Amino acid sequence: MTQKHGNLRPRVLSGMRPTGKLHLGNYVGALQNWIKLQDTHNCFFFIADWHALTTDYDDTSRVAANTIDVLLDWLGAGLDPEKCTMFVQSHVKQHAELHLLFSMVTPLGWLERVPTYKEQQQNLATKDLSTYGFLGYPLLQAADILIYQADFVPVGEDQVAHVELTREVARRFNNFFPSSGPGSNIAFTRGDAQPIPASVMAEPLLKEPHVLLTRTPKLLGTDKRKMSKSYGNAIFLSEEASSLAEKINNSVTDRPKLTDKGNPDRCPVGNLHQIFSDAERLAYITRGCTQATITCVECKALAVESVEAHLNPIRERRKQFAGQPELLEKIVRQGEQQARETAEKTMHAVRDAVGLLAETQVQLAREESQTRLRVPQAVTSAKTEDERWGLRTAGWLERIGKVHPLRRDRPRTFITQKSRKVGVHTAAEQNGSWMFRLQDRALNVLVLLAQDNDFYLHDYVLPPKLVQDHWKQFERADGDIVIKIRKSPAGDVLLSTKNGDVPIQQYEGDYSALQ
Ligand code: TRP
Ligand code: SF4
Repeated sequence: MTQKHGNLRPRVLSGMRPTGKLHLGNYVGALQNWIKLQDTHNCFFFIADWHALTTDYDDTSRVAANTIDVLLDWLGAGLDPEKCTMFVQSHVKQHAELHLLFSMVTPLGWLERVPTYKEQQQNLATKDLSTYGFLGYPLLQAADILIYQADFVPVGEDQVAHVELTREVARRFNNFFPSSGPGSNIAFTRGDAQPIPASVMAEPLLKEPHVLLTRTPKLLGTDKRKMSKSYGNAIFLSEEASSLAEKINNSVTDRPKLTDKGNPDRCPVGNLHQIFSDAERLAYITRGCTQATITCVECKALAVESVEAHLNPIRERRKQFAGQPELLEKIVRQGEQQARETAEKTMHAVRDAVGLLAETQVQLAREESQTRLRVPQAVTSAKTEDERWGLRTAGWLERIGKVHPLRRDRPRTFITQKSRKVGVHTAAEQNGSWMFRLQDRALNVLVLLAQDNDFYLHDYVLPPKLVQDHWKQFERADGDIVIKIRKSPAGDVLLSTKNGDVPIQQYEGDYSALQ
């Protein structure tokens, strides 16, 4: 298992709106800090695409592309999907559900009083922000944070009020709906003291998070105003080398005349040195600037060099990811699953505490299919192949039975409601591959249950067309069919046939053929 599953680490959550390519201000203000945190904390980072809609609902044409741009910047800069969970907000619907429940208990005044509410309405006066969604912005943010039971929220100064509101919402929600976690209906007694109500003993339903204030180094835009995409004064993290040099060389400085003395603190170029140059170079330009012994032209050339040395590997890594859309898709899908698993745990407890009727079996089965099946350890001491088959299939058959009832036929064969014949076969991992042995008898659907080295079960449900097309191509041994699947180095799952490999990972957990 990778490090991010280290559950003892404090949990961190943060998000960014998909505003398109990140600029250096976003990088040094937030992303660099996140990259450090992924090594020490259990981190969840997400792209807040629903939040983007609160202000940009009138033109949503760039939301998807901007989401990908942000993701590429994250990966290029070094956020690592093996170390942190990265996902897209709108992929985890549970955020919306918790936001809705929060909306029931949150007084309007709390939201109207959040400083960003009035400020933004004034700043973006051309937009109509007297909408329900915009008022609810910080409440959706509270749901983002509380659904992961985050300990810390790394944000800048501008977001502190939102985290403060989040804490208040958590307290109010916990008050209205005391946790009814396991054991809550047991009265605890100590000696002959009064029973202590369970709600006092139980963990609160939602954990109050703390701000992890990010110290942001000062970085002016090329025109000496605050760096911002909308001012057109930004240098982007993915800036090409040529335009990087051009932007720095055309930058306004703090020394209008060569003979003027300047101050790097007040100069966009000086700021870049402060962030990206080594101590020696920074000392050199600082002296040269404050005493007017170097030219801004020289100073800029050195800044170009320092910044380029830092951005070059980021730009290259970004390009590599941009050229592999399947990999991006996989990263996002993996993040979505991990995030949903955690979010869903909170939502189970929340729905229960609120007092909603438990969901139906079918819904439960659907949710369950989003959590991974495990084979009991006992499989290692099983004596016969039949016993192993029984242990590996039990959980899977139970799950499937709730959605698509299967009728037992011959051993390892079942009949679906639409009268399809399904063969269910199992195997354990051997060096990244699995071998399934079955009798050469006609089947419509083939279910391959592959137990991996961590005892997780991967279920590939090969639909009739695929089975029919490849049946003759499978290897035969002593009259049996031998089916081999393996993981490719890229992480694809491939089915071997005489005519080559067929990718089958899209059939994992796809139960549509079992109707
Ligand atoms: N409001 C944040 C911003 O504009 C983005 C955001 C949305 C966020 N949800 C969050 C940040 C949850 C931290 C935690 O930057
Ligand atoms: Fe800016 Fe460098 Fe010129 Fe000083 S010398 S004003 S830091 S460009």
